[in-house]
Amino acid sequence: MLAGGSGTRLRPITHTSAKQLVPVANKPVLFYGLEAIAAAGIGDIGIVVGDTHAEIEAAVGDGSALGLRVTYLRQRAPLGLAHAVLVARDYLGDDDFVMYLGDNFILGGIQDIVGRFTRDRPAAQIMLTRVGDPRQFGVAELDAAGRVIGLEEKPVAPKSDLALVGVYLFTPVVHEAVAELKPSWRGELEITDALQWLIERGHGVESTVISGYWKDTGNVTDMLEVNRLVLESLDGRLDGRVDDGSELIGRVVVEAGGVVERSRIVGPAIIGAGARVADSYIGPFTSIAADCVISGSEIEYSIVLPRASISGVSRIEASLIGHDVEVTPAPNTPRAHRLVLGDHSKVQISS
Ligand code: DAU
Repeated sequence: MLAGGSGTRLRPITHTSAKQLVPVANKPVLFYGLEAIAAAGIGDIGIVVGDTHAEIEAAVGDGSALGLRVTYLRQRAPLGLAHAVLVARDYLGDDDFVMYLGDNFILGGIQDIVGRFTRDRPAAQIMLTRVGDPRQFGVAELDAAGRVIGLEEKPVAPKSDLALVGVYLFTPVVHEAVAELKPSWRGELEITDALQWLIERGHGVESTVISGYWKDTGNVTDMLEVNRLVLESLDGRLDGRVDDGSELIGRVVVEAGGVVERSRIVGPAIIGAGARVADSYIGPFTSIAADCVISGSEIEYSIVLPRASISGVSRIEASLIGHDVEVTPAPNTPRAHRLVLGDHSKVQISS
């Protein structure tokens, strides 16, 4: 599991937090990957970590809560996906393995592909998905029979719209490829080059095209969309406290210690542990994280990270609000917006 790297595309959220820990329906995106691995029957997992190692280790611990045995593998700098394989070389030994990028989200898990790989055992198995802008991804070229004949990392002129999804399955032969790689133009050891090496030497590289895939693109729209997707399959649950003056419609989760007073919540929505919602409207596809305070406000189709507070504000839509953020109305006179925004913030004001 790769959980190093720097996360420039989700700034400013990732100025202060590892991008793999950005929550989707109040659960870090990394955890969906860890659960998918556990569900595929894999118990031993090496997590490659970089500068944000303390935060990742604090969140995942020894993995026992997820039924995993976790070993942390320190990468001194994000020198490429194939470099991460190099870092994990001794840990992996001569085992077949899955390499999973910690910022990727795959609907439906990896059970099928792990089953297929175990049965056919090609040198490598990759997953592809059709994307609108392949230039942001590794891109595969297939022949008429659907075999992978070439791979290119972030090409200027993509040969197809089939992007590499961040889940790869390998037999140990990949270590021979990785050992021979030279850094690419962007200074990284590219896993696409390792795959190309395998193809050129006649090793089998199989591919499967999937749908239901998401990765961060710096585009909050995508994040809100994956949040929607996950909330769609949420079952309602009431572990917190909802007063008589409140109305919950549809599938709503209120986690333990969450409090809802004199409010209306239209699901699917989730209110985190210790969060307080008072005199407010929470609309569909909204995730309010732990220990937030929402009072006298309206918010819909949004993600609010832990400990943020929103009071007296209507109406917030399609927004991503970071940890410990405070949103309040400005004083009436003069009529002005008062902003304290971190580096790389994005604000859209309707007035
Ligand atoms: O998400 C799919 C794409 O992932 C593929 O289409 C590309 O072919 C592949 O190269 C990769 O591209 P990105 O540029 O998006 O990778 P990124 O730098 O975001 O890193 C992916 C994950 O791996 C992320 O969780 C950080 C972690 N990572 C990355 C590098 C470069 C590491 O742990 N160590 C590293 O050295």
